[in-house]
Amino acid sequence: MLNEAAQRSAGGSEVLRKLPRVPLTTTLRLITSPSDERINMHARVDRVFRRHGVASCQDLLFFRVVHLFGPDAARFVLLDKDRIFSARKPWTTIMGRIFPNGLLLMDGDQHKLHRKIMHTAFTRPALRSYAERMNPMIGEGIAQWNPDRETFHAFPAIKELTLGMAARIFVGADLGDETKRMNSAFEDLVAASMSQIRLPIPGLEFQRGLQARKFMVDFFSGMIERKRNGEAPDIFARLCRTVTDEGERFADQQVVDHMSFLMMAAHDTTTSTLSSMIYELARHPEWQERIREECVGLADDSPGFDDLERFQLTGRFMKETLRRYPPLPAIPRIAEEDTEFAGYRIPKGAMCVISPIHTHHMAEWWDDPKRFDPDRFSPERAEDERHSHSWIPFGGGPHMCIGLRFAETQIKLFVHHMVRRFRWSVAEGYEMPVQQAPISKPMDGLPIHLERID
Ligand code: HEM
Repeated sequence: MLNEAAQRSAGGSEVLRKLPRVPLTTTLRLITSPSDERINMHARVDRVFRRHGVASCQDLLFFRVVHLFGPDAARFVLLDKDRIFSARKPWTTIMGRIFPNGLLLMDGDQHKLHRKIMHTAFTRPALRSYAERMNPMIGEGIAQWNPDRETFHAFPAIKELTLGMAARIFVGADLGDETKRMNSAFEDLVAASMSQIRLPIPGLEFQRGLQARKFMVDFFSGMIERKRNGEAPDIFARLCRTVTDEGERFADQQVVDHMSFLMMAAHDTTTSTLSSMIYELARHPEWQERIREECVGLADDSPGFDDLERFQLTGRFMKETLRRYPPLPAIPRIAEEDTEFAGYRIPKGAMCVISPIHTHHMAEWWDDPKRFDPDRFSPERAEDERHSHSWIPFGGGPHMCIGLRFAETQIKLFVHHMVRRFRWSVAEGYEMPVQQAPISKPMDGLPIHLERID
C-alpha cells in the first residue's frame, strides 16, 4: 500500500523506479577498509552520491540502508509530513539498551507529549538562569588551564569542563563528592552506546555501560522526591516539577530516563563543536582577533542569555564550524510504509539515512564548500538561506534538537571567556585528524599552543 506521496507519483504518468543498488564490492570494501577510511564518512558517502545520484540502496550485514542525499531529501524525511518515518526504531536499535525511552526514541503522540513537557526546561527564562550559572563555571574552569605546557591537549580539557557543567546545570550544584562518580558512570554510558560489541561480557565497554546505567538510575531515583518538592533551577528539578495546563507530568522513571538521554545528547555534541571551533580559530588568527574585539567590546565577565544575539561574529563562526564538522554526520529513520522520493520507490522497513555532512558540502548549495568561510553566513551572503534544509546540524522537523539554544549559549559563553583570557595556535602544517562518525571528534586530543593574555 503506497502512502499519499507515493500514490501522487504513481498515479501520474511517472512510474516509480527501483533504487540503484550500491554494488556488494563497495560494501565489502567499506567493511574491510582501514578504520581511518571507514570513519571518513564524507568521502565514503560522496562516492555513493556521485555514482548513483540522490537515492540508492546498500545491503549492509543485517539490514538494507537507503541513502538519500541533498536538502530536498532532508526536508522530506525530517519534516515527515505524511508521518511515515520512525526515529524510535533506528535509535532504539543503536542505543535502546543504554538510553531507553529517551525523547529521540519515541514517535508520534507519545513523542509530542513528552517533548511538550520537556520544553519547559528550555524556555527563555530557564535559559537565562542556565547562562547566569554557566559564566562563573566556564571562567573558573578555563582559568585552570595551564599555558606553560609545551602543548596543551584541548579536547580532553574541554570534555572535562563540559562534564563538570553537565553535573551542575543538569543535576544541580549540590552533588559534592558524588560529582566524580556520576561523571565516570556517565562516561561509561556514552562509551557503551557507541560500542561495536553489544554483549554483556564482563570487562567490556557494553557491560560497564549496563552497570553505569544501574548506577545512574539509582542515583537519579534517590533524588527525585527532593527535586519534586524543592525550587532548584537545574534541568532535573524542572523536569520533576513540570505539570502542563492539561495536568500532564513525567512519572519518576520517565524523568530518570530523560535525564540520562539528555545529558548524553548534550555532552559529546557540544564538546565536539567546541573542539572544532578551537581548531579553526587557531588556524584563522584573524578571526580569533575579530571575535576577541567583538567580545571585549560587547560584554564583561558575565554576558547574559539576552546579550548573546549581539555576538554576531561568534555566531557566524559557530555556524560555519557546524557546517564543516556536524557532530552528528548522519541521521537515521525507518520507513514504516512504502513511499517514494524523487521517483524512486522506498520499501517499507528500509533504514533511510540523511547525511548532514554531505548536504553541508554540496557545491550546488555552498560556494567553494571545502573552504572554511564564516562570512558565508553574513546577512549579505546568507548561503544557508538558499534552501530550508541545506544547513541541518541540529536536524529538523518534530525531532529537531530541543537543546539547540542551550548549546548555542554554552558555545558562545565558552568562546567569550576563552578569547578574553587566551591566544592560541596550532603547529605549522598541523591538520586535525577528525573521526567523523559516530560523533565527530579530533583523534589526537587536539594539541594547541596556549598563551595567556595579561
Ligand atoms: C552543538 C550541539 C548539538 C548538536 C549538533 C545536536 C544535534 C542534534 C540532532 C541532529 C538531533 C536530531 C537527531 C534526529 O533527528 O535523529 C538532536 C536531537 C536532540 N538533541 Fe541535540 N544537539 C546538540 C546539543 C544538544 C543539547 C545541548 C541538548 C540538551 C541540553 C540536546 C538534546 C537533544 C534532544 C533531547 C534531542 C531529541 C529531540 C527529539 O527527539 O524531539 N542536544 N540533536
